[in-house]
Amino acid sequence: MQSHLADKNIALDLVRVTEAAALASARYVGLGDKNLVDKAAVDAMREAFQSLHLRGTIVIGEGEKDEAPMLYTGEEVGFGDGPEFDIAVDPIDGTSCVAGGRPNGIAAVAIALKGHMFNPSRSFYCEKMAVGPEAANVIDLDAPIKDNVEKVAKALGKKVGELKVFVLDKPRHEQLIKDIHAAGARVMVHSDGDIAGALMTIDPTSDIDMLVGIGGTPEAVVTACGMKGTGGQMLTRLRPKTEEERRNIIEDGIDLDAIRSIDDLITTDQCFFAATGVTPGAFLDGVHYRGNYTLTSSMSSRGRTGTIRYIQAWHDRRKLSQMGNIEY
Ligand code: FBP
Repeated sequence: MQSHLADKNIALDLVRVTEAAALASARYVGLGDKNLVDKAAVDAMREAFQSLHLRGTIVIGEGEKDEAPMLYTGEEVGFGDGPEFDIAVDPIDGTSCVAGGRPNGIAAVAIALKGHMFNPSRSFYCEKMAVGPEAANVIDLDAPIKDNVEKVAKALGKKVGELKVFVLDKPRHEQLIKDIHAAGARVMVHSDGDIAGALMTIDPTSDIDMLVGIGGTPEAVVTACGMKGTGGQMLTRLRPKTEEERRNIIEDGIDLDAIRSIDDLITTDQCFFAATGVTPGAFLDGVHYRGNYTLTSSMSSRGRTGTIRYIQAWHDRRKLSQMGNIEY
C-alpha cells in the first residue's frame, strides 16, 4: 500500500510548497534583509506542507529545533496520512540574491522515501561536478579539470570553446576558474545558487553544460534528488572548510574521502523535487506581479520516470491571503 501511494506523482503537489515559499518571500526582494526573506519562505513552506498527503520528516532543515522554530531537522510535516518520506528543504537557495535584489534565488524542496536520503550530518561543504545525460559517464572528480572539460565537450559533440561551465563566484574558486579558462572553456559565474547551476545541466533549454566547484552539502542532496532519474550525473566529495567541520564529520562516522554520486545521495527512485524562482535567473524566472495576480515559474522532477516539468502559474494574491495565515 505504502509503495503504491508513494508511486503517485507527488512532484506536482510539491510545486505548491515551493510556489508558496516563493510568493511569500518575493515581497521582500531587494529590501536587504535576509532574515525577513528566509522567515517568509519558511512560514509559507511549512503551511503548504500541511496540505500534502504524506507523513514527512525533515532530515535536512533549517537547523536544530532550538535555533529553528520551524522546518527544523526532525520536525514532522504533512497531513499525516500517506507514505513516509524524508524531506530536505531549502526554503531559499540564494537568500542573499533575494535580499540583495540579484538573480538566481529559488525556493527548493526534495523528498525521498524514508531512509533513502544521505544525511550530511555536520558536513557543510563538498566538491561537486554535475553534467547532463550525454556526459554522465565521463566525469571524474580525481582528474584535472582540463581532462573533464575536454571529455564533457567530446561527449556533448561540442568544441571545448563552446562549453559553458557554471561556477559559484567565490574566492575559493579563483584557481579553478583560471584552470577552466586555460582549458579553453567558458565560465558563467553566479554569486550564489548551485542547486540552480546543477539543474541547468539537465535542462534541455539551458546552455549550461557543467557545474563545478565547492558548495553546500545539504544543497548537494537536494540537487541529487532533482537530478535523479533524469540521466544526468553529479559527483560529490565532502570538503570541510574548517578543522572543526572535519573533526565532526569523522566523529559522525561519515567517510570523508568517498566520492558520492546521485545514487549514493538518494538511494531510491521514489523521490520528487520542486523549485520555484524568486528572483529572475537563468534557471527559473522570478515572481512577477500584475494587478492582483502574481506569476510564478517552477520546475518539478520525479525520480522514477525522470520527467521534468516546467510550470507557470498565475496566483490571485487576495484570495490566497484570505485562505490561510500567509500574506502573499
Ligand atoms: P543560502 O541561500 O542558503 O545561503 O545558499 C546559497 C549558496 O550559494 C548555495 O547555493 C551553495 O551551495 C552555498 O551557498 C555555498 O556556500 P557559501 O556561500 O558559504 O560559499
